[in-house]
Amino acid sequence: MKVALGADHAGFGYKDRIAQVLRDRGYEIIDFGTHDDTPVDYPQYGYAVGEAVASGQADRGIVVCGSSLGIAMAANKVPGIRCAPVFEPYMTELARHHNDANVLALSERLTGWEMIERLVNVFFETPFDGGRHAHRTEQLFEFGDAQRARTLKDLEAGAVTDALTPKDLL
Ligand code: RB5
Repeated sequence: MKVALGADHAGFGYKDRIAQVLRDRGYEIIDFGTHDDTPVDYPQYGYAVGEAVASGQADRGIVVCGSSLGIAMAANKVPGIRCAPVFEPYMTELARHHNDANVLALSERLTGWEMIERLVNVFFETPFDGGRHAHRTEQLFEFGDAQRARTLKDLEAGAVTDALTPKDLL
């Protein structure tokens, strides 16, 4: 398993600890930095991890920033990336079971280290369920002008709420 890691100055501490945990398990790590607390811009690190996973250079990615949010937004700009910012184990399971998340986003400022270890374990141990979830994850990369026009038309017609809201979480 090859894992791409990236973090800004508010996340590099956890990023380095995660790298060590995963290396001890025999995973191959591609570390895009950053490596100290000199302020840097989180988008660059989210893009780098996203590109590594989308291109197949890495199987999975983990990104860390202060909140998990900015670096997740950046990673999700890369076509092919399904990056999930997560804070607790069940949402991490769902991110894998339902969304086939290929990048995990973590917060160094808001999440304790013990929880981080649990979230990382769940991320690697939980399979994607496929089935009815597969065509939904595929739709994530179909958003272009044609899809946008369809969505706007559906919204105008009041069709989206009834047609697309899941009746049941599972
Ligand atoms: C850096 O101060 C902080 O804004 C960044 O790490 C992240 O939380 C942004 O979303």
